Amino acid sequence: MKFFLDTANIEKIKEAASWGILDGVTTNPTLVAREGKDFDTVVREILKIVEGPVSLEVISTDWKGMVEEAEKLASYGDNVVIKIPMTIDGLKATKILSSKGIMVNTTLIFSPAQALLAAKAGTAYLSPFIGRLDDISSYGMRLVEDIIQIIDNYGFECEVIVASVRHPMHVLEAALIGADIVTMPFEVLQKMIKHPLTDIGLERFLKDWEKMKG
Ligand code: E4P
Repeated sequence: MKFFLDTANIEKIKEAASWGILDGVTTNPTLVAREGKDFDTVVREILKIVEGPVSLEVISTDWKGMVEEAEKLASYGDNVVIKIPMTIDGLKATKILSSKGIMVNTTLIFSPAQALLAAKAGTAYLSPFIGRLDDISSYGMRLVEDIIQIIDNYGFECEVIVASVRHPMHVLEAALIGADIVTMPFEVLQKMIKHPLTDIGLERFLKDWEKMKG
């Protein structure tokens, strides 16, 4: 299972990369805007740190604009993946970009039908937003299960990125159903490490060691 960080924050990306478990990064306009820096600066900094796929999202909503933006972004590095929203223009742009060998991550997927269309258009990654579905009393992880089933049924060559992740249980559930990738905020990654019994256990081991010495 691959772990992506869902952030444009350089310090968090550096920290996760230093743990040796970071496979890639996803960003979106909200996350880049949050950093308060110029887009190009942020992107170039991320690409210096991350060797795996880095998803950068287009702002255009028409297919021609999306393709133009995507081509510029793709020139930043071989590991750049273009995030395209799940719209009709997004589908057209995906078909064009994928046939040119530019990798697409279809974002804002909220139904299995949308995922099927994006897969047919040749996307490399499907990003179902599970947290936002849970927020409106829908079962986000069910969507991931359905998408995995559809991909397996037809052998589509795309990977599922479980997105809009809110807590460690989302990561665990995604792992149990065999999702390829989870993209998560740094805070979720931090929470996955913690267990009070680990802290208590370590404290006790060290105390006992000190007693033996003294
Ligand atoms: C995914 O690629 C998106 O950037 C992200 O997961 C959205 O998450 P949110 O619903 O927490 O904004």
